[in-house]
Amino acid sequence: MPYYRSVGEVPHKRHTQFRRPDGGLYAEELMGQEGFSSDSSLLYHRHAPTAIVSAEAHEPPTLGQTPNLPLKPRHLRTHKVDAGPADAVLGRRPLLVNNDVRIGYVIADRPSPLYRNAVGDECLYVEEGTAIIESTFGRMEVGSGDYVIIPTSVIHRIVPHGRPVRMLTIEATGHIGPPRRYLSVRGQFLEHAPYCERDQRGPSDPLLVDETDAEVYVKHRAGWTRHVYAHHPFDVVGWDGCLYPWAFSIHDFEPITGRLHQPPPVHQTFEGPNFVVCSFVPRLFDYHPEGIPAPYNHANVDSDEIIFYTGGDFMSRKGAGVEMGSLTMHPAGFIHGPQPGSVEASIGKKDTEEYAVMIDTFRPLELCEPVLACEDTSYAWSWSGGRRK
Ligand SMILES: [Fe+2]
Repeated sequence: MPYYRSVGEVPHKRHTQFRRPDGGLYAEELMGQEGFSSDSSLLYHRHAPTAIVSAEAHEPPTLGQTPNLPLKPRHLRTHKVDAGPADAVLGRRPLLVNNDVRIGYVIADRPSPLYRNAVGDECLYVEEGTAIIESTFGRMEVGSGDYVIIPTSVIHRIVPHGRPVRMLTIEATGHIGPPRRYLSVRGQFLEHAPYCERDQRGPSDPLLVDETDAEVYVKHRAGWTRHVYAHHPFDVVGWDGCLYPWAFSIHDFEPITGRLHQPPPVHQTFEGPNFVVCSFVPRLFDYHPEGIPAPYNHANVDSDEIIFYTGGDFMSRKGAGVEMGSLTMHPAGFIHGPQPGSVEASIGKKDTEEYAVMIDTFRPLELCEPVLACEDTSYAWSWSGGRRK
């Protein structure tokens, strides 16, 4: 995330005296990736960001994971998951996991506690509703169709605004960012990128909370811990740099189309460690006179493919029971493709209104316990007209 931003007050030179109105020094903090060798920001706190007064282990969420055995394509109806109302951090219901990424779902109707994910970046996709993301970097409003990227270790909380907010949660074990092929060597979006800096939103004003003894839930490599900070961590009067939470709306993703069917990499929106995230958005179909708009059957020999259906009419899955909030998983070792009849039916169609979020993981995903409550177990046989032996 190399786009430079500056919010609030910062001193003219880094690492120089920057004083509070009472004459004391602000506490400078560098938050940086890969030690001191990658993107970073400098934050100026009213109080020491290091002062904790309590640390207690916290029971981590149970996953109840089992391998995808026997190997089958899966269809999960996320709207049937017992996913709330809860808060958007502790109330997440895990669905699919591996050692690189954890995919979950939540319906949040109350503010989350303060939270720091020290394992990796998070990508939250807001399916419905609005929320305020409050963090040490400030406040950011997000809503339906937004992807929200929260960098590793940023202390934040998620506050639903109005009606409950529904989110697909993607927790990485490393950093999530735009695909490298869309960036210049210095990190600017190139002309062929489907989105650019103008589409990115970040916190715009400092957020100052004058409280003591603030509890922060920390997800870290050894488990979960509850820290109590002597002063509320939202005490940053200014920051600048290239590392901060940001949002990008799926509605701002500009689709790349062609005369013949374009492969899924044209839809790629983010890359993470051993996974990618793609956006399917309303677009013109292929315009070759003999073209077939429906996708061809494909075997993703190196990945599990997850699609979350979030709007419009998903032509290639007609007849398979896919609905809003459906999440399908087509694993490696299985050839998947359009539903019977949809290839012929797609011919002559000019455009699509679909919205979907796709996640391809390069290592197999396991199924978590909440899957049992929301799986459409007939999906695996939907290509054979429901016949099973
Ligand atoms: Fe696919």
